[in-house]
Amino acid sequence: MTMPDSLRTVEFKDNKVIMIDQTKLPTKLVFVEYDDFNEVAHAIRTLIVRGAPAIGVSGAFGLALAALQSNATVRDELLSDLEDARKVLFETRPTAVNLGWGLEKIMSVAKTGDSADQIRELVIFTAKKMADDDIKINKALGKHGSVLLDDNDTIMTHCNAGALATVAYGTALGVIRATKESGKNVKVIATETRPVQQGSRLTAFELKHDGFDVSLIPDTAVGYSMANGLVDKVIVGADRIVRTGHVFNKIGTYQVAIMAKRHGAPFYVAAPLSTIDMQTLAKDVIIEMRKASEVTGVGDMRTAPDDITVINPAFDMTPPELISGIITEKGVVMAPYEESIPKLFQAN
Ligand code: MRU
Repeated sequence: MTMPDSLRTVEFKDNKVIMIDQTKLPTKLVFVEYDDFNEVAHAIRTLIVRGAPAIGVSGAFGLALAALQSNATVRDELLSDLEDARKVLFETRPTAVNLGWGLEKIMSVAKTGDSADQIRELVIFTAKKMADDDIKINKALGKHGSVLLDDNDTIMTHCNAGALATVAYGTALGVIRATKESGKNVKVIATETRPVQQGSRLTAFELKHDGFDVSLIPDTAVGYSMANGLVDKVIVGADRIVRTGHVFNKIGTYQVAIMAKRHGAPFYVAAPLSTIDMQTLAKDVIIEMRKASEVTGVGDMRTAPDDITVINPAFDMTPPELISGIITEKGVVMAPYEESIPKLFQAN
């Protein structure tokens, strides 16, 4: 089973949202089509679509569907229907800031419309543009990051911050793609990323499809790989970066960062500016807790005793002292992040 080069993780076509059902990968490439924003909310909640930038754009597309679903004929009535839909979409996942960012962006554009028809047009146009921009941003980010990688480097990555976590191209994997495009040879080590296995199901699949030299390791082999000199650098994505440079990303990222520090491997985070939250403090970021069944079994097979108490956080926080640089579409910033991050928003 192969994935066509031009494939998008999520798109808006013929007034429908079309997305890859990522719960079926890597064995089946299945597309789902939605014409109801509630179905998009369900898709985000159940990880049919996941990854911070991908859920940001999916939220925006959800509002585009809500605009089409609404029978409102006057401006304020439509804005009120959109606000109801925004709440439903926002409540699906709490940690990635891109979801709220995408929804807010659409709502503020909607409010500039004078009539219901104009709002519908504006919302659909803006959501589609956000999707196109996502690819451009990832390519710019990838180029900036590629200068940090050397010929013949082996890069470890965790979770999936690839095409499948964005509209296309990826963030952390975008840097790896851009490095290859610049003529350098690069190998990848992908962690399996239990419990949902975004590393084995998605990253290994995506990189293998695109012809990269990728090796899969269990999460428990991160220390072994670094201690045995198998890793030159680490690049991961992010769900939320706060102004102090604390990075929230897939559970296990913190362990990888600690290990990278111990073994002297630079640890980079690649993310668009839409992932940076200048308002919230690290201590106030909500870490999503997911259901126990993700941990008590693998697929349909049960691997833990009945009624076991489970702690299943979906994300963790990596502190700035473990981060060698944050790669964005506006360039790479380094510590002290409280000084360097605000400058990203001033750059043209
Ligand atoms: O639970 P997920 O699969 O949505 O978590 C995804 C991650 O943690 C990614 O690393 C992050 O969203 C960056 S995606 C470019």
